[in-house]
Amino acid sequence: MTNKESLRDFLDIDKIDPQEIHAILDLAHKLKKSPLAYRPMEGKTIALIFEKPSTRTRVSFEVGFRQLGGSVTTLTGAEIQLGRGETVADTGKVLSRFVDIAMIRTFAEHKLYELAEGASIPVINGLTDTSHPCQIMADVMTAQENLGDLKGRKVVWLGDGDNNVLTSWIHIAPLFDIDLHIVCPPEFAPPKALLIAAQKRGAKVSVNADPATARDADIVITDCWVSMHNSDAGIRHQLLEPYRVDQALMKRAAPSAIFMHCLPAHRGEEVTDEVIDGKQSVVWDEAENRMHAQKAIICWCMGVNPV
Ligand code: CP
Ligand code: NVA
Repeated sequence: MTNKESLRDFLDIDKIDPQEIHAILDLAHKLKKSPLAYRPMEGKTIALIFEKPSTRTRVSFEVGFRQLGGSVTTLTGAEIQLGRGETVADTGKVLSRFVDIAMIRTFAEHKLYELAEGASIPVINGLTDTSHPCQIMADVMTAQENLGDLKGRKVVWLGDGDNNVLTSWIHIAPLFDIDLHIVCPPEFAPPKALLIAAQKRGAKVSVNADPATARDADIVITDCWVSMHNSDAGIRHQLLEPYRVDQALMKRAAPSAIFMHCLPAHRGEEVTDEVIDGKQSVVWDEAENRMHAQKAIICWCMGVNPV
């Protein structure tokens, strides 16, 4: 995956040894206990490249890298030559002369891989049209905080089944022996190849169209109906309407169930105010954990364990 010796890319959960994912999460929990205690990135700089908007990813990477002692340069959309046609591989080569690690949020997945190929520094996936692995590291961390061991836990995803956040949940499900149920209209189901690959890796994943699947769920999770790369908002709103997470749906779940959402939420669409602001919602911890999880990812990419 990389010619970077002790340096490593964080591109997709299914490309990384499961033991390494467990180790990163263990470190994330430790770093959260003492957020300002470890400064292994002193003298180092991270470049953050955003070809799409961001609130959480941008702030959590900026603040997290500074907490680790390093400096940050953030490059957005049309401000950089990438927006005028410079290739991602060339961008990677150039950035490698200035900075020590890079994160990119982009559109097509191949651009992420081209950046990683061109760069001699570690590259982190900060979301593509296809996946969002940093989000899922924070999600699993949050789930562990609330539920402990995730083995056999019933996780029910409702709404858009062809979704980048869900792809990373599908990738991580077998690592924690999670029982993942995807509830979506057939028109927005996950790609078959993704499910087959996950099942080969031992994932317990099923897909159906019935929101009553939320019965006895330990985790109820959703995402926006129209992602940043989707251009078919009309049909999505029409077909996803029955999959809103409301209080009636949460009542079907286990009494101790938690509600998760990567945010930003579209209140009144995929989730009601009552649920996202309710007692079972852990979305603000989930957002905060982006920073702790990514600090651990950065340390892993750079080959350091500060704790
Ligand atoms: N969840 C997430 O990635 O949020 P942003 O789009 O605000 O970065
Ligand atoms: N699925 C959403 C996630 C945002 C963090 C999107 O891609 O817009």
